[in-house]
Amino acid sequence: MPDSSDSGFLCCALLLLLLGSVSAPPSSSSSSCPPGCECSEAAHTVKCVAKDLRGVPVGLPGYTRNLFITGNHIERIGPDSFKGLHNVTNLSLSNNNISEVDSHAFSGLPSLRSLDLSSNRLAAVHPEAFAVADQSLRQLNLSRALSNQSAMSDVAAALRRSALTSLRGLDLSHNGLIYLPPRIFSQLGGLRRLLLANNSLVAVRNATLAGLGALRELDLRLNSLKNVPEEGLRELDSLPEAEILLGENPFTCVCGLEPFARWLNRSRGRVRDPEGLVCAFPAALRNASLLSAVGAAGSLGCRQVGAGAHLALQTSYVFLGLVLGLVGLVFLFVLYLNRRGIKKRVYDMRDACREVWDGYRYRFEIDSDPRLSQVSSGADA
Ligand SMILES: *[C@@H]1O[C@H](CO)[C@@H](O)[C@H](O)[C@H]1NC(C)=O
Ligand SMILES: *[C@@H]1O[C@H](CO)[C@@H](O)[C@H](O)[C@H]1NC(C)=O
Ligand SMILES: *[C@@H]1O[C@H](CO)[C@@H](O)[C@H](O)[C@H]1NC(C)=O
Ligand SMILES: *[C@@H]1O[C@H](CO)[C@@H](O)[C@H](O)[C@H]1NC(C)=O
Ligand SMILES: *[C@@H]1O[C@H](CO)[C@@H](O)[C@H](O)[C@H]1NC(C)=O
Ligand SMILES: *[C@@H]1O[C@H](CO)[C@@H](O)[C@H](O)[C@H]1NC(C)=O
Ligand SMILES: *[C@@H]1O[C@H](CO)[C@@H](O)[C@H](O)[C@H]1NC(C)=O
Ligand SMILES: *[C@@H]1O[C@H](CO)[C@@H](O)[C@H](O)[C@H]1NC(C)=O
Ligand SMILES: *[C@@H]1O[C@H](CO)[C@@H](O)[C@H](O)[C@H]1NC(C)=O
Repeated sequence: MPDSSDSGFLCCALLLLLLGSVSAPPSSSSSSCPPGCECSEAAHTVKCVAKDLRGVPVGLPGYTRNLFITGNHIERIGPDSFKGLHNVTNLSLSNNNISEVDSHAFSGLPSLRSLDLSSNRLAAVHPEAFAVADQSLRQLNLSRALSNQSAMSDVAAALRRSALTSLRGLDLSHNGLIYLPPRIFSQLGGLRRLLLANNSLVAVRNATLAGLGALRELDLRLNSLKNVPEEGLRELDSLPEAEILLGENPFTCVCGLEPFARWLNRSRGRVRDPEGLVCAFPAALRNASLLSAVGAAGSLGCRQVGAGAHLALQTSYVFLGLVLGLVGLVFLFVLYLNRRGIKKRVYDMRDACREVWDGYRYRFEIDSDPRLSQVSSGADA
């Protein structure tokens, strides 16, 4: 009994050894596979996944078309990181903690079509970082790739300077971007798909989308747009072919949203999720569809705001009345407290008046009585 189990174990071990020796030689015979990587010549694929690599491995086989170097700790992609890899079309450098990309970092990959730099923390990107010979690059993934907004100016410069005229897809989602520099995409005339979802964009400014005439899809979901005023609507209208996604933004359904709502109603064919656009504010309209909110209120909130102002005015009048009444009461109270002094003064005044009056009357009576006037004139004489 123990004998047979022992022999079974031995058999297994032998088999494993055999398998190992079978799988090992091809990589050493045709072309070597760098440590930490798995190479498949048949699939033209090399994977170096989560091996704690500190740099791009050297000695990658020349047959490689799909190269995955992901989940390592590579902080910098230098100018000579890739050499002699003429057949690489897909390169993923996702999730490597990359912060720096040097000038012409990928120009050793003349056939590169898809570059995935997602889930890194790019901070310093050279203006010519993405330059690839023959403008071969079609897809660039920078999702969750930027360390913060200040990295955006580097990326913007690189997008303008790297001559990516054939780029079809650009993913800039999940980056916490607050604004986009003007004309950032102006050199990407061939772009078809632009993903900007889950950032913190508050506005679509003049010239933000300049040069994207060929765009087919623009994803602006999950941003911080409260409204899209005329300036932004003009920008969106400059993309005649594009389908636009605008859902899950915190639209505020107050006076001033009407131009956007009217545009939305007009552009139902182009906005893929018109019913998905809902008010986040005011509380009374939360989750109400933008279209129905504007349709129902006619002039969204403008009248309510007017009524509110009217009410405020009325309230202020009432308040003014109350204050005046109070002042009056205080005045009367002061008068009441001083009633003695006032009485005395009034009597004094009355007496004074009476004296004056008496004086007048006396003189009048003298003047009006001819005898008395004669007496007085005679006395004068
Ligand atoms: C690259 O691909 C071409 C054709 O697809 C092939 O002829 C060539 O041998 C490949 N290069 C290497 C180094 O395998
Ligand atoms: C990324 O790199 C920084 C240094 O630049 C380091 O402090 C940090 O721990 C790294 N993060 C990971 C997940 O390796
Ligand atoms: C290579 O990238 C293209 C997009 O350019 C994609 O369609 C294709 O599926 C990718 N291939 C692999 C093996 O990832
Ligand atoms: C970019 O990369 C992320 C994460 O790796 C992935 O989920 C996303 O689908 C990619 N974007 C495109 C356009 O392929
Ligand atoms: C952005 O990140 C870089 C490098 O990680 C840092 O030096 C810079 O201070 C950061 N800027 C802001 C505004 O947080
Ligand atoms: C949006 O991006 C942040 C990181 O910037 C991430 O934590 C969050 O899960 C993302 N939300 C969605 C819905 O993808
Ligand atoms: C928008 O920018 C263009 C030039 O890029 C300029 O001619 C136009 O006046 C600007 N419009 C506004 C409203 O700023
Ligand atoms: C709005 O809709 C979301 C999900 O659709 C839901 O979680 C939330 O409770 C709703 N809020 C109100 C006030 O109806
Ligand atoms: C939307 O447009 C239609 C005409 O195309 C119009 O009848 C309707 O009143 C509009 N709705 C709103 C809310 O503006």
